[in-house]
Amino acid sequence: MNAPLIAIVIVSGALGLAGCENQQDVIAKANTQDNATQRSTEPIVRWYNQAQVERGNELYQANCASCHKPDASGTPNWKQALPDGKYPPPPLNGTAHAWHHPLSILQRQIKVGGVPLGGTMPGFGNKLNEAQINEILAWVQSHWSDDIYHIWHERNAQASK
Ligand code: HEC
Repeated sequence: MNAPLIAIVIVSGALGLAGCENQQDVIAKANTQDNATQRSTEPIVRWYNQAQVERGNELYQANCASCHKPDASGTPNWKQALPDGKYPPPPLNGTAHAWHHPLSILQRQIKVGGVPLGGTMPGFGNKLNEAQINEILAWVQSHWSDDIYHIWHERNAQASK
């Protein structure tokens, strides 16, 4: 394998585009693995509150909407590389890949951006503080269904162990 090819493989792996599990499969798997009745009756307590979602909306519209779309729907063909080999801004609304990542990784993606991994998203570490980044993530996650949020929540708990 030559060097550029290795680089592409590493980058797509790092961005989570390689081996991305199909969303329906993951939900189906989680539903059969867990006790499904327990899942549906257990109230899902999200980590954020409504005030954070509202502040996050303003910050998101000002900083992120130009690429990820005002409703977080991103680019429908987000798995399709552009002619320059980079990837377009993915949806953040729970239909793509963002919910595979624990909170710490999502925070870092916004702080550092995608450029260090060979992507194009700028970092916001010098523009947004941690509270603001969390408010944006609260707004983003408010678009996720309870099913998606629940699976994310379990993965997030695993990751922070
Ligand atoms: C200039 C366009 C642009 C802007 C502005 C931008 N992004 Fe991105 N974002 C991207 C691209 C493109 C990617 C894919 C990775 C890469 O190329 O860096 C991405 C990836 C992401 C990911 C990872 C998603 C995944 O499926 O793993 C998250 C989370 C994210 N962006 C959140 C944000 C947030 C929040 C903001 C605003 C603070 C923002 N982005 C601003 C272009 C942008």
